[in-house]
Amino acid sequence: MKTVKTRCLGVIAMGAILLLPATLALAQTGNGSDVPAEVVERGRYIALTSGCNDCHTPNYSIAEGQVPEELWLTGDVLGWHGPWGTTYAPNLRLLAAKMDKQQWVEMTHSLRARPPMPWFNLNEMTAEDAGALYHYIRSFESLGEPAPAYLPPGETPPLPYVDFVLQ
Ligand code: HEC
Repeated sequence: MKTVKTRCLGVIAMGAILLLPATLALAQTGNGSDVPAEVVERGRYIALTSGCNDCHTPNYSIAEGQVPEELWLTGDVLGWHGPWGTTYAPNLRLLAAKMDKQQWVEMTHSLRARPPMPWFNLNEMTAEDAGALYHYIRSFESLGEPAPAYLPPGETPPLPYVDFVLQ
């Protein structure tokens, strides 16, 4: 009897050990669902190499990418001023928090936006990559503040802003 019990306990312990790596490989996404850590990592890679940080993270280009990850994709107060008015790269964490993954992927494929947002590049992102980016953006606990609102043409924006002089 004793041996059977010990054996049972052994099996349970083995099961727990086998389950452990799987549990560790899951990352909390902040949206209540667990996704594999490699999906979140893929999303991070896409954010980094597709240039999203260049505009959607404060000071990113000027600081040559040396901005703490806690601030990534929280939007920027730098205005982009041109014939289209003044645009501000919005906080993507706040945007993603309002959507489920499917809505995010659909938005990625149908987005139209004013300059200098390269929406025509984003439209080409695969659903898988857009989904991974979504999970990465949702993995942050803190959402940050909204970026300033768009200003129509003819309104001089407050500093700092970039002036596009096209002719
Ligand atoms: C060159 C700067 C720049 C880059 C690079 C850039 N964005 Fe943007 N993005 C903007 C600006 C500015 C806006 C606001 C456009 C407007 O007001 O119409 C914007 C808007 C958006 C919107 C629409 C937000 C909304 O509230 O409707 C999404 C989504 C978005 N960007 C995602 C991305 C992603 C994902 C990447 C990387 C693949 C990226 N952007 C790269 C500047 C940029």
